[in-house]
Amino acid sequence: MIRPDEHTTDQTPDLPLVKLWGGRFDEPTDAFVEAFTASVGFDQRLFREDIAGSIAHAKMLAKVGVLTLDECEKIVSGLNTLLLDIERGDFAWVVAYEDVHMNIEARLIDRIGDVGKKLHTGRSRNDQVATDVRLYLRGAIDRIQQELARLRAGLVDLAEREADTVMPGFTHLQVAQPISFGHHLLAWYEMLSRDAERLIDVRKRVNVLPLGSAALAGTSYPLDRAYVAELLGFDGVSRNSLDAVSDRDFAIEFLSAAALIMMHLSRMSEELVLWTSAQFSFINLPDRFCTGSSIMPQKKNPDVPELVRGKTGRVYGDLFALLTLMKGQPLAYNKDNQEDKEPLFDAVDTLMGSLRAFADMMPAIEPNRERMRAAAKQGFSTATDLADYLVRQGVPFRDAHEIVGKAVRHGQTIGCDLSELPLAELQTFSAKIKEDVFAVLTLEGSMAARDLLGGTAPNQVRAQVAAARAALSSATHAHLTTEIFC
Ligand code: ARG
Repeated sequence: MIRPDEHTTDQTPDLPLVKLWGGRFDEPTDAFVEAFTASVGFDQRLFREDIAGSIAHAKMLAKVGVLTLDECEKIVSGLNTLLLDIERGDFAWVVAYEDVHMNIEARLIDRIGDVGKKLHTGRSRNDQVATDVRLYLRGAIDRIQQELARLRAGLVDLAEREADTVMPGFTHLQVAQPISFGHHLLAWYEMLSRDAERLIDVRKRVNVLPLGSAALAGTSYPLDRAYVAELLGFDGVSRNSLDAVSDRDFAIEFLSAAALIMMHLSRMSEELVLWTSAQFSFINLPDRFCTGSSIMPQKKNPDVPELVRGKTGRVYGDLFALLTLMKGQPLAYNKDNQEDKEPLFDAVDTLMGSLRAFADMMPAIEPNRERMRAAAKQGFSTATDLADYLVRQGVPFRDAHEIVGKAVRHGQTIGCDLSELPLAELQTFSAKIKEDVFAVLTLEGSMAARDLLGGTAPNQVRAQVAAARAALSSATHAHLTTEIFC
């Protein structure tokens, strides 16, 4: 995250430091207040969106006759030059100009002269900043969707490869029933697919243009808001100026969706951490995703999932920061809203980094199939299959449950899995047990038997892999980043 002061300067040699709002003030701003109220240290990262919004605004002012074509051209080319300057790092951000908007406007006036002073006609920083944040967030959502899709595709590939791999499925973290490792991976895929749907939905409410709301009440100029929306790729135009300049619910919605994604990544992390431990040893993470210990030479730590699990708390914090920021604000814009940016940027950066790390790591996971299989054999994981077998022989399920419970207790006493008990011994629990019981007591038999939609049978896993691939390829076409430069 950009910290205040990191990329700002208190002085600039070629610019007179005249406040763009200084007219009604008798004395200069207190130096500390100036630094305290400034946002340029962190909102400078909105420069692309700010310039795009200004270019669209200027073009629209020319279209409706508020600017001449010549004035518009001077402003647009001045703004484009500033864009190049900023991208080259050749732009001094000045704290005295408070924020990204006034830094760019002041520099534009310096560059092109008095005509630059006409840019802010019919506009306020209130609708300007709301527009910038929406443009920024739309782009961020599109980039997040791309990383999310890469991670989901990686999960689907791994699930296909591991459809026949048996592992123990857990409830209460106790061995429950044998499952396909591919099925487990597709459970993760499903969580992340709902996350992607949520982002598509959030994006609809983000992609609405506030510009034209001016300070709070709209403006007396005959602005063509639909034209600005078209130039900037917005799907619609806000219907109430008070609401448009003040609410940040669209950002809060995004943060809730981001918090859910992090929650899912954190659950995945927890399992990856468990699985890489010596006690589980279900998977190996290649060295490039791990780090060592400065004191214990034997250690290889799963830092990436641990860190993602830890970073989840930051994003929850960002969500709560914005909810709390909004809750006491009267209509319309209040300076409180300047505090929306750091949590939003932090959440976007944290989420992007976490998704990138996961998308890179997923194809590199090395399953230890023997260990998974051995673990699935422990804990009488096919006990339910024996009960189901008895039900098929006409035993009521509750009685079957009781019979198998006794057989399990016997197996525990003598240290044998149900599949290792001789037929004669199994028959002491129920005469309905026949030779064919061993087919259902194997791990593969148990897994293959759950051959219904949503079940763990490898057939079903392969069918879900195919469905996921189809969904991913149609989604890829839907999330192309909207170009904002007109
Ligand atoms: N830096 C401000 C923000 O981030 C821009 C809007 C300021 N508007 C105002 N009326 N002071 O919200």
